[in-house]
Amino acid sequence: MNQEISQASSPSISQATSQPSNQTITPLVEQSDTRTDRSFDEIADHFEKKVYGGLKGDIRLAVLRRDIFEYCANMSQTLGRPLRILDVGAGLAQIAIELALQGHTLVINDISANMLEKAQASVVQSGESNQNNEKLDITWHVCPYQELEEKLAGNTEKFDLIMCHALLEWLAEPAAVMDFFDKHLTENGALSLCFYNPASFDYRNLIMGNFNLLDNTEYKADNKKSLTPNHPVAKEEVESWLKAHEYQTILASGLRVFHDYSPLKRGGHNDPDAVIRMELRYSQLEPYKWLGRYLHILATRHA
Ligand SMILES: C[S@@+](CC[C@H](N)C(=O)[O-])C[C@H]1O[C@@H](n2cnc3c(N)ncnc32)[C@H](O)[C@@H]1O
Repeated sequence: MNQEISQASSPSISQATSQPSNQTITPLVEQSDTRTDRSFDEIADHFEKKVYGGLKGDIRLAVLRRDIFEYCANMSQTLGRPLRILDVGAGLAQIAIELALQGHTLVINDISANMLEKAQASVVQSGESNQNNEKLDITWHVCPYQELEEKLAGNTEKFDLIMCHALLEWLAEPAAVMDFFDKHLTENGALSLCFYNPASFDYRNLIMGNFNLLDNTEYKADNKKSLTPNHPVAKEEVESWLKAHEYQTILASGLRVFHDYSPLKRGGHNDPDAVIRMELRYSQLEPYKWLGRYLHILATRHA
């Protein structure tokens, strides 16, 4: 194996999580309405296949790569050193691992040991194909992000970039994550926040004619395997948090602004590369970007 994985806590040790991995849902913060943070331990395989097993995942990664990699390259050049980057709720951590391959220092976190085990396996795989024989600087922490502070205590350095992708909508108290960012970002640090866009749920169901679903205000995905979050946060709410915490938006993109809405795969839809090219183009154009299934906001407190 060419890469070295420095493990502050090993993802292969399930007791490193606050809950054993054979539980259905990891209750982290019980609220009166029983909302809890959602561990993906039980649905790691399903998530990998459904979200990243095809074009949907390729589009998601293509937009995030374009938004994040150029920013990191410029920031790293300005600072004259590799960046210190944290990925919270990292899941399979594809973008984080690619940033490590680019030479940055990564801390990768998830509440789910199973998800990080998969991420680690892909590092091993990339090691086999990495001809430069570099060592990757990655520290893994299996724990709720709320417990990261004590794990990072020995390491007083803050982060140049914190990535939080598709995590908000699975948290019992999503707004609380903003205080965590404030604490752990450097003064010129950036926040890469990607979240499920609830407007896309309405728009897709309008197109599909699922009006009964839109009339049912009590609708909740009841399937434990469902990857449709029951508590998404609207763009306006996220924007109000960013404003309250004095962030300025550097860029905002929509992820999958048309692909998921098209029931009829005709013309260019039959060419995956063309779909990605168009998704990349329209992901940054008004008004289309606001219909993305996910929205990505890159923000800093010192733009
Ligand atoms: C939808 S997945 C997103 C994974 C990845 N960031 C991506 O964009 O593909 C959400 C992840 O958040 C993790 N998660 C949920 N609550 C968490 C918490 N409190 N702290 C850290 N991770 C958490 C889940 O286990 C899951 O892997």
